[in-house]
Amino acid sequence: MPTALITGATAGLGAAFARRLASDGFDLVLLARDTARLERSAAELRDRYGVDVEPLTADLSTDAGLEAAEERLRKGVDLLVNNAGFGQQGVYLNVPVADEVRMLRVHCEAVLRLTSAALPGMLERRKGGIINVASVAAFFSRGTYGASKAWVVSFSQAVMRDLGGRGVHVMALCPGFVRTEFHERAGMDVSGIPGLLWLDQNLVIDAGLRDLRRGVGVSVPGLQYKAIVGVGNLIPRGVADRLSSRAGRRFD
Ligand SMILES: NC(=O)c1ccc[n+]([C@@H]2O[C@H](COP(=O)([O-])OP(=O)(O)OC[C@H]3O[C@@H](n4cnc5c(N)ncnc54)[C@H](OP(=O)(O)O)[C@@H]3O)[C@@H](O)[C@H]2O)c1
Repeated sequence: MPTALITGATAGLGAAFARRLASDGFDLVLLARDTARLERSAAELRDRYGVDVEPLTADLSTDAGLEAAEERLRKGVDLLVNNAGFGQQGVYLNVPVADEVRMLRVHCEAVLRLTSAALPGMLERRKGGIINVASVAAFFSRGTYGASKAWVVSFSQAVMRDLGGRGVHVMALCPGFVRTEFHERAGMDVSGIPGLLWLDQNLVIDAGLRDLRRGVGVSVPGLQYKAIVGVGNLIPRGVADRLSSRAGRRFD
């Protein structure tokens, strides 16, 4: 059985990845901070899909958490989904710098270190995949969140280019708005977001796994977001940033 390690696997997109991969026959390593919730999720997935599920309690904003994840990845996995992440309420100047640094650790340092720990085994077997969950925010200037996700996209593209044709695929997945615990945890009011902009969790997972199989480098699920990112690339960066910043502030 192939094995997948998913970070942030107890809620939202990570939990949806876990259900889909278990139903596809993957054994799983589920990583998050809340041990009781991890154990509940693991038991549900074992019962429902008959696969092996290992809970791994780790806080990816700490050295101990990063080391625990690296140690497990060095034992070998077939698929790594770097999904754990969070948002902040408010604009840059209002967010304590310690929270911004924590975000960079979870969104960037963890993605870097976990990718580095998983790749050698994958390259040896000439087989494997890494999905780095970024966001459409990567394509617009949206504070530290957007900057960290832009790093995820650029890093994934660079690693993929370096690997070139060695049987391992690295992809950035860039969803738009998805109903998960993300906005409530960050204290964001998203009541004004138009229905058209909400993506179904399963659509995001389907698109992500399909694009990984097809060798796509940057996956943007949903036609509406393909159009937004496409138009964003056509208009001057300053105009796109002003529009995105104005829209974004309504949801802070
Ligand atoms: N929802 C959206 O609209 C949206 C849009 C674009 C991109 N994304 C991206 O999608 C990814 C998943 O977000 P989501 O919407 O599914 O969020 P979510 O529902 O809030 O789930 C976040 C998951 O990450 C875990 N987590 C948070 N901080 C962690 C840490 N320091 N160490 C380890 N695990 C941690 C949480 O579990 P514990 O609290 O137990 O650790 C939970 O399992 C994120 O990278 C996010 O930036 C989301």
